Amino acid sequence: MKTVLILNGPNLNLLGTREPQVYGAHTLADVQALCQQACAPHGFALDFRQSNHEGELVDWIHEAGRAQAAGTLAGVILNAGAYTHTSIALHDAIKGAGVTVIELHISNVFAREAFRHHSYISPVARAVMCGLGVAGYPLAVAALAQLQAGASQ
Ligand code: DQA
Repeated sequence: MKTVLILNGPNLNLLGTREPQVYGAHTLADVQALCQQACAPHGFALDFRQSNHEGELVDWIHEAGRAQAAGTLAGVILNAGAYTHTSIALHDAIKGAGVTVIELHISNVFAREAFRHHSYISPVARAVMCGLGVAGYPLAVAALAQLQAGASQ
């Protein structure tokens, strides 16, 4: 059984109370439950994490690279929050670890402030999803399953 690692960056622990007009009313625990449901039919185990610390996210991406190389990880779904727009360290970590990453955002970042239009993650991501609300998370799990199926053909 392969694992899907879902990493959430800064302030995503505040989901449910943080700007609900932008991010909706679901909490991060609700999102985790949605992802758990989405993983089951694909036979994926779920590893769901959140950190407000850039270096911790970097460490987790390195760990993911090792797990993917060992064949135990399907890939990473990464909502890097505001680090998306600032973090060369996360860009380098994904590139260096050689891990499959789907970049995900709850909101449509391109319909928001100009500073959200640039992503350091996108050039090193396998795919980018945004604007689907928290429903994007289970869709990203399905996308990883599709990529896995393609890889094993
Ligand atoms: C976000 C969008 C980012 O611009 C923002 O800083 C976040 C959340 C999203 O999920 O829509 O923290 O990644």
